[in-house]
Amino acid sequence: MSHTKPPVLWAGRLAGRPDAEAFAFQASINVDKQLVFDDIEGSRAHAAMLGKQGVLDAETADALNAELLNIAAEIKSGKLVIDEAAEDIHSFIEGILTARLGDAGRSVHAGRSRNDQVALDIRLYLKRRIPKINDGINTVANTLLDIAEQHTESIMPGYTHLQRAQCVTLGFHLCAWVCALRRDQQRFTDALARFDECPLGAGALAGSSLPLDREATSAALGFSRPTLNAMDSIADRDFALELASDCAIVQTHLSRFCEDIALWSSEEFKFIDLAEAWSTGSSIMPQKKNPDFAELIRGKSGRATGNMVTLFTILKGLPYAYNKDLQEDKEALFDSLDTVEMCLRMFRGMMASARFNTERMAAATAGGFLEATDAAEYLVRKGVPFRKAHEAAALLVRDCVEAGQNSIPRRSLAELKKRSPLFEEDVYAVLSPSAGASARRLLGGTAPEEVRRQIERLRKS
Ligand code: ARG
Repeated sequence: MSHTKPPVLWAGRLAGRPDAEAFAFQASINVDKQLVFDDIEGSRAHAAMLGKQGVLDAETADALNAELLNIAAEIKSGKLVIDEAAEDIHSFIEGILTARLGDAGRSVHAGRSRNDQVALDIRLYLKRRIPKINDGINTVANTLLDIAEQHTESIMPGYTHLQRAQCVTLGFHLCAWVCALRRDQQRFTDALARFDECPLGAGALAGSSLPLDREATSAALGFSRPTLNAMDSIADRDFALELASDCAIVQTHLSRFCEDIALWSSEEFKFIDLAEAWSTGSSIMPQKKNPDFAELIRGKSGRATGNMVTLFTILKGLPYAYNKDLQEDKEALFDSLDTVEMCLRMFRGMMASARFNTERMAAATAGGFLEATDAAEYLVRKGVPFRKAHEAAALLVRDCVEAGQNSIPRRSLAELKKRSPLFEEDVYAVLSPSAGASARRLLGGTAPEEVRRQIERLRKS
């Protein structure tokens, strides 16, 4: 704990100062210190612009730029440590500049407010982070596609209502996951394009009477354009709502995948064997090998959804323009980004090292009447209206159940013909599980050649 209190930017107005606990309560440095390099980058662009516009003399602007670079280097090397007794990262940097440069440091904030400063910092931070999240999603997608490629012919039951429904392949199932992940990437990319506008120059809420060049700072900081309206610039947290929602969606996807994994790794399914290094044991039951990683990733979807709700709750009913409530935005959003990034890495590691028990998966396709739809579609091909074909196949299932048989091809052709005279010997070839999977050759279907096409498309997107 430092004993000298760091300077407070607003000390001039107020005779008193909150006591230590109250000051710490309203401070945000413990969270916004993560914005330090973005804050420095923003201040450099702002100071350079002030110099060009003649608000500062060239010497002062140069001195500020040089010292800001120094500060960044010193923080990176550990020579300068961020003082958590400061109110926020903005005050901390301005305080250091002032301590080192005197009046030059005191002049950097001309035409600026912490309101547009923080709006800028978060955007710069997100512009760095979102591409990394998308890389993480891409890596998971490619790992899943690698597995899918090896399993375009590995048949397994596809489920609806968690009841065996139709025969699919593992490659097909994994492609379904990757489709969801590709949309997640698109969502982040869309959001990134939408908030790619520079709020600097918006000031506290209404712009500035100083001759700021907003186009120049926007271009220097790599934005597409400056924001249109100063009040919107500092009140807007749509991007936080959007990104927290995008995080909640990708995390929900991971959670669903992990639910499949947890089921598949149970003794009842035994479709997947998670690596020992990606499992944990029990403190009491010596035999246990638990899918804790899958469970924890699933559990963390609660956190991501919670953060999203936190942000919506903060913003609902907030009067225009800036209110201190907005300070709560960063903790929730950053936590969502951290959570998603970590879970993507963990999920990838778990999947890359897992082994699939293709024999068990194939065995599970037998005996659950997964061929019933194929029997009905056989009749449809012979001109039977679907509802009648459905009924004939349903009655065949009932016949089997009554006779203690576990699949339609156990019935003789004569028995099949009792339900429809259109059944012929060739129906038996249609009713095997692998025939069911490979018959769905249409676009989007389960057939191996179609799944290979899907994999190719998903590799490119
Ligand atoms: N720590 C504040 C935040 O994150 C910075 C902006 C403070 N502005 C103000 N007028 N108090 O929102």
